[in-house]
Amino acid sequence: MLNPKPTAGDTSWFTDDRFGMFIHWGLYALPARHEWIKQIEQIPDESYDKYFRYFNPDLYNPEQWAEAAAKAGMKYMVVTTKHHDGFCLWDSKLTDYKATNTPYGKDLLTPMLSAFKNQGLRLGAYHSIIDWHHPEFPIDDLHSMRNHPDRAKLNETRDIKKYAAYLHGQTKELLERYDLEIMWFDFSYPAGKHGRPATWIGKGKDDWQSEKLLKMIRKLKPNIILNDRLDLPEGWDIKTPEQYQPQSWLMVDGEPVVWEACQTFSGSWGYHRDETSWKSVEQLIHMLIDTVSKGGNLLLNVGPTGRGEFDARALDRLAGMGKWMHQHSRSIYGCTQSEFTPPVDCRFTQNGKKLYLHLFAYPFRHVHLEGFAGKVDYAQFLHDASEVKMIEVDPHAEAQNTSMAGQAGTLTLELPVAKPEVTVPVIELFLK
Ligand code: GLC
Repeated sequence: MLNPKPTAGDTSWFTDDRFGMFIHWGLYALPARHEWIKQIEQIPDESYDKYFRYFNPDLYNPEQWAEAAAKAGMKYMVVTTKHHDGFCLWDSKLTDYKATNTPYGKDLLTPMLSAFKNQGLRLGAYHSIIDWHHPEFPIDDLHSMRNHPDRAKLNETRDIKKYAAYLHGQTKELLERYDLEIMWFDFSYPAGKHGRPATWIGKGKDDWQSEKLLKMIRKLKPNIILNDRLDLPEGWDIKTPEQYQPQSWLMVDGEPVVWEACQTFSGSWGYHRDETSWKSVEQLIHMLIDTVSKGGNLLLNVGPTGRGEFDARALDRLAGMGKWMHQHSRSIYGCTQSEFTPPVDCRFTQNGKKLYLHLFAYPFRHVHLEGFAGKVDYAQFLHDASEVKMIEVDPHAEAQNTSMAGQAGTLTLELPVAKPEVTVPVIELFLK
């Protein structure tokens, strides 16, 4: 079994918990057409300001959010304390651009973190290192004002060092004020990396003063889990692939690392009213299983509305996942990639001597496990603990005129013809 080298942060709980909720919430819930809307439509500050003036999530009830997450089987959460538009959910001393100054008038973060903690979830902060609102943040090629006619002139008075001080100060505030176990920064975009040209004007570790930031974080919270987006070659704990399922366990310099895929329900992270590309419950459950079968975590995002609620589509997906998790979480929590290769259309996860066979496509009556003869003590469906009969194939035996299976050494599981009424059936195999 693959075992990543330990890092400074404590990932032991993280690789057991496997399933977390990402929350992207901020002013962009009002335009409701992507959290990057300020950048995509190059909206000037004066005009983006209307979302600040009208932000009033009057139905906000974080207990309901936390309950929905816990019922879905999620064990931790990561919330956008600030996204790229610069708006802060908590009552930061270092800015006026925060929830308390909107018509809503109250801190949104503190009650949220308490509510999730009360439901037993661990807490994490996503914090944007990008800031398209801060007056000291130099306008680069990604900025919402990148095409501003006075860009060069405006940049003359912008000082990245002052912005870095703000970034460090806010990080300190968050770490000191809240009981955070994950610090999730987003993101670096230096020239010449990730397909960006050498002439690109971006930002990286020297702009953020990432090394200094890292030192402060480790001093304040030595064991906090830190993600990999500060443009540092080391010092982080988790790799964070986004919006795709890796082919296999993520490796860095040939070594396996702790990793977490972050995924959306429909494509954008902030609330998007008109997006029609919503994944089905089945797709999402497949995604969770596939992730754990490759030794990873899934951080699944909800973008709450401007009224402060999870919309019906999100609640439907969460409930569907929760229904499956209620009976199947044993094949997720504490599990990792197995050293065994699964049959076609299946995924294995493993927890010690318990091996979980997930049937993505339900076969007719039999599933053949090559090389498993003599290795399994007992087999049962996970959802109802009903025995699954095991047949050790004698390659010479006759089954209705022909021999049923191929190879010696194969263990065949006998299934009911009708697929059990669960989204993905799982067979729990107790290894000898
Ligand atoms: C990206 C996007 C962003 C989202 C994040 C989540 O880097 O900038 O909007 O917050 O990914 O991983």
